[in-house]
Amino acid sequence: MQMRLPYSVPLFDLPMYSVSKLTDYSAALAAAAEECIRACEAEARSVSDETELKLFRDRWLGRKSGILTQINELWLKDAPKDAKREVGIRVNELKARIQKLVEGTRAGGTDGRATTVAGVDITLPGIRRSIGAEHPVLKTMNEIVSVFQKLGYSVAKGPVVETDYYNFEALNFPPNHPARDTQDTLFIAGQAAKPPRERLLLRTHTSPVQIRTMEKMRPPIRIVIPGQVHRNDPPDASHSPMFHQVEGLAVDTDITFSDLKGTLDHAMKALFGSSVKTHFRPSFFPFTEPSAEMFVSCFICGGSGKRGAEPCRPCKQTGWIEILGCGMVDPNVFDFVKDNGYDPRRVSGFAFGMGADRIALLKYGVDDIQLFFQGDVRFLQQFA
Ligand code: DAH
Repeated sequence: MQMRLPYSVPLFDLPMYSVSKLTDYSAALAAAAEECIRACEAEARSVSDETELKLFRDRWLGRKSGILTQINELWLKDAPKDAKREVGIRVNELKARIQKLVEGTRAGGTDGRATTVAGVDITLPGIRRSIGAEHPVLKTMNEIVSVFQKLGYSVAKGPVVETDYYNFEALNFPPNHPARDTQDTLFIAGQAAKPPRERLLLRTHTSPVQIRTMEKMRPPIRIVIPGQVHRNDPPDASHSPMFHQVEGLAVDTDITFSDLKGTLDHAMKALFGSSVKTHFRPSFFPFTEPSAEMFVSCFICGGSGKRGAEPCRPCKQTGWIEILGCGMVDPNVFDFVKDNGYDPRRVSGFAFGMGADRIALLKYGVDDIQLFFQGDVRFLQQFA
């Protein structure tokens, strides 16, 4: 006895299909065509070995008296003149379907099982779906975050659509202060009726999450904030209206600028290799005082400013790459959250913020930030 799958009926146990004469050439033709297809599918399922397959093929496609030939004789040739064109089209469609079905049918495997389901060859390999990979920018952000997590920092997040209060005012950008101009803000339209501090905008930096977190958590805190930010910058090789930052904030009693330097120096060595050096230059941000920009020695040319005889482009031949802004939290910022334990006379802290896309560009040697956001699989596959 041969084993058969439940749906597999021995070929000649089926009630044998035969082509009937048509009573009319519209409704009856459609019904007859349907019946014919079903019969063919049922027989295809029952084919379990090469002998049966040959019988099956001859029965349907045989030139002299195969079912398709009979259909030609009985349906097409007999059709009245005025219906011929229409019937011809339908019969051709039916023949094409039957032909495909019969030719796609395979005999069962060596154990005698039928492996064919009406024209679908289940022995063919399946469709392989690619798994995808972490996007290079997210990968970079995750790496940065994990360096700080190992130092005991937790991750905080905040909304991308932010109020003027959190994005500017509570970060010590007074209304109409010129420092706001540096941020090329994208405002949400139609809010003139609202008080200025409640107006919505796309956050221009991740710094507002400093305030949001301090409102919720009492000191001491150590947090990193990865996230998306927007600015009204026309896209070019190094600018995108949407980009990513990783922010950091540490607040406790007796936090000093040395803590800031030590923490960031360690983080840069963990990210770019233990031989990189860090270097701080005075700067200005409304929410830190003093403020600084931090540079790392160029990990591409090793700080020499040259690659062989060529000038090193990423560091513009200076040997240093600007990586982030940082500073000691301005007492005015603490004032906005002093009721939650942030009395500027008792606590101090440092903060920093870096552009994750820029770091990803440098790390992977990509020369155009637009490539990160165009979704071209050929580009993204290189990071898989
Ligand atoms: N928010 C600043 C920007 O987007 C970056 C920054 C600078 C963040 C200094 C900080 C900081 O936390 O202390 O340009």
